[in-house]
Amino acid sequence: MTFPPDFLWGTATAAYQVEGGNTNSDWWRWEAEGHVREGNQAAVCCDWWANAERDLDAAAELGTNAHRLSLEWSRIEPEPSVFDSEALARYRAILQHCHAVGLEPMVTLHHFSNPLWLADKGDFNSDVVVDYFSRYAAKVVDVLGDLVPKWVTINEPMTYAVMRYLTGEFPHTRRGYGAFMEGVYNLLRCHAVAYHAIKERHPAALVSTADNMQVFAAPPDGTALDRWWAGAVGALYNDAWPRALHTGVFHGPLGRRRVKGLAGTADFSGINYYTRFYLRFPPRQGFIEREWGPGAVVSDGDYGEVYPYGLYQMIQRVLPYGKPIYITENGVPDAADRLRPGFILDHLRQVWQAISFCYPVMGYYHWSLVDNFEWERGWTQRFGLIALDLETQARAWRPSAHLYREICRSYTITDDMARRYAPEMLPVMWPGGDQTSEVF
Ligand code: BGC
Repeated sequence: MTFPPDFLWGTATAAYQVEGGNTNSDWWRWEAEGHVREGNQAAVCCDWWANAERDLDAAAELGTNAHRLSLEWSRIEPEPSVFDSEALARYRAILQHCHAVGLEPMVTLHHFSNPLWLADKGDFNSDVVVDYFSRYAAKVVDVLGDLVPKWVTINEPMTYAVMRYLTGEFPHTRRGYGAFMEGVYNLLRCHAVAYHAIKERHPAALVSTADNMQVFAAPPDGTALDRWWAGAVGALYNDAWPRALHTGVFHGPLGRRRVKGLAGTADFSGINYYTRFYLRFPPRQGFIEREWGPGAVVSDGDYGEVYPYGLYQMIQRVLPYGKPIYITENGVPDAADRLRPGFILDHLRQVWQAISFCYPVMGYYHWSLVDNFEWERGWTQRFGLIALDLETQARAWRPSAHLYREICRSYTITDDMARRYAPEMLPVMWPGGDQTSEVF
């Protein structure tokens, strides 16, 4: 299965999850208050602030030609309107290093972390956030814009709002549906002002958001009501945000809201896809039912089911917007690398199939390059192609890193790769049988 010669092969990371020492972030305080699983803290993390170059060199060694990373707002603007030129210089050096080793950077302005001072002003529940975000975006683009062809303004805005205001697992000061809607509205306003700040300075840059899109379905024994509920949740969670970026109007369950300057602010569709969730109405175990269908393959810590076809479904879901599509995240928590090789092969098969139908999928960024701090789940889940020993900072390539290198270097996925890395995928991906050995 062959990919186009201009396909972008990437990995993805986020600043707070790899840099270490981000003491001015609201996450740092949240961890110190003991909210993260097993009392885990980000601490020195993957030590990227001192040495991002080590892992970026590994990304180049993997044969990738792109990398998605984010900037830590709390470093760049440690106090309101005070910009840290050393922090910006460090990011410039990191981005220059990306280019030097052949990685095209895609840069996210906001990936789940706020400056503490902004959190204390109410961040996305306060009007002040829009001006602050606009100024932050303008400053960053003035200093770094010449190095960045693709921007993500906000990572997974709907997940971010759900995890703060509805489930309460991310740092927050307010909860409930009212706070949720206000948060979403201000995230939309922030995206709109940042989009224009970037485009005024670099009209050719591509700008959008990376949207968490998952399959929501009724369980196999589900009722018509369960199916209706799964459809309604999917429409809000997967569709409402990208649609708003195209039309300028957000359709929430309790009404619609128009946002000034928002229409037409997505130059591409960014899909972060991980899993399929089962829902019931009324819910039995909380919002998502932790139950699996017959034969389901489930990743570490009951994170979710491996469901590759869902990636194809999400690609189809954004086709009506008519924009280039990037898979801005896709990965699996799997410390033992028992599932990841097959996961990569089968998800890329979905991408290949989409491209075969001339769907404009232009790139794929695997989450993640190296094990990193998994937010409310701390260090309990490992998403890296490369394993990290937190104590010693030693790195070890998992087998799937070697597989990904073969794929990125050859622009293909083959039955021979499956035979060597994930033989369980042969009958799934090549149901006609083991072609090579039969013929030759
Ligand atoms: C987030 C990442 C996170 C990953 C795996 C995504 O929703 O953007 O920050 O690490 O999921 O949980």
